[in-house]
Amino acid sequence: MTIDRALVAGAGLMGHGIAQVLAATGRSVALYEPDIARAVAGRDRIAANLKRSVAKGRLTPTEREALLARIQPTDDQAAAADVDLVVEAIFEDVDAKTALWGALDRIAPPAAIFATNTSSIGIDRLSAAVGEARRQKFVGMHFFSPVPVMPLIELIRGSATSDETEATVRALAADMGKQVIVSADRPGFIVNRILMPFLGEAMRAYQEGLGTADDIDAGARVGLNHPMGPLELADFIGLDVCLGIMRVLHEGFGQDQFAPPAVLVELVEAGRLGQKTGRGFHTYPRR
Ligand code: CAA
Repeated sequence: MTIDRALVAGAGLMGHGIAQVLAATGRSVALYEPDIARAVAGRDRIAANLKRSVAKGRLTPTEREALLARIQPTDDQAAAADVDLVVEAIFEDVDAKTALWGALDRIAPPAAIFATNTSSIGIDRLSAAVGEARRQKFVGMHFFSPVPVMPLIELIRGSATSDETEATVRALAADMGKQVIVSADRPGFIVNRILMPFLGEAMRAYQEGLGTADDIDAGARVGLNHPMGPLELADFIGLDVCLGIMRVLHEGFGQDQFAPPAVLVELVEAGRLGQKTGRGFHTYPRR
């Protein structure tokens, strides 16, 4: 199946990046948020990213304009009526995701593929929101942040996902320059199953006073050659997002290594969500 037009639902950290890489392949993208100002803000972020690419000589100003023109911010779900693909990248909440998928199922053409960027929730749990015929078109397509930079997609098949859907997603990922890994449909899939206990342990070390946030991060950056330390990475992902993923993992596996550390819960309750709010384990912008 050919994908020419897509709708990306959610224009935040992940959604705007997904819209950007889809548009970079020449496809038209409707960028949907229920609040049009947020959809426009998503496109503005893409415009800023592309400005840097022009400054670095990777894109001409004309290519930038053409790419931006392929992205239409919208607050109207009816924009899904003529798409071949919907990618959902809204916040990690089962009820919000299932409500959206149920609504889009009634609007999108029967042939359209439904790909969720969920980072932890089971595909079968989400595809229960759509009609039986759509479930063969329903798939997990999990991107990594920053989406234009990180060359990985986790592909997760639900029990009804068809071979044709997987083949279409693989071809699309190749067009976007992304490597695909396949995960079984279990909480957290592959990457977050590995990552979250690591971030959680760093947070427990911090709450115990084992070291400062800077020293814990430097331990992983300098001693393990990671591009970011675990606390700054958690701040970058969003502490609310990390908490949501840890809760899904803990609920799914019941093992202590997945339990959200107290310090994480406290920071989220205090509204310190990391980079996006200016404070998390660190304060932003960092000096
Ligand atoms: N959007 C687009 N491009 C970006 C970007 C952004 N937000 N941030 C950085 N870049 C680009 C820069 O333009 C730069 O490009 P060039 O090298 O081609 O010039 C490149 O990335 C490197 O950027 P910088 O030199 O500014 O900074 P850096 O070398 O410190 O790298 C980083 C920044 C790529 C974010 C790096 O720190 C990194 O890889 N961090 C780890 C990221 C990571 O682990 N992501 C996965 C998180 S888990 C997840 O997303 C899934 C989940 O479910 C939670």
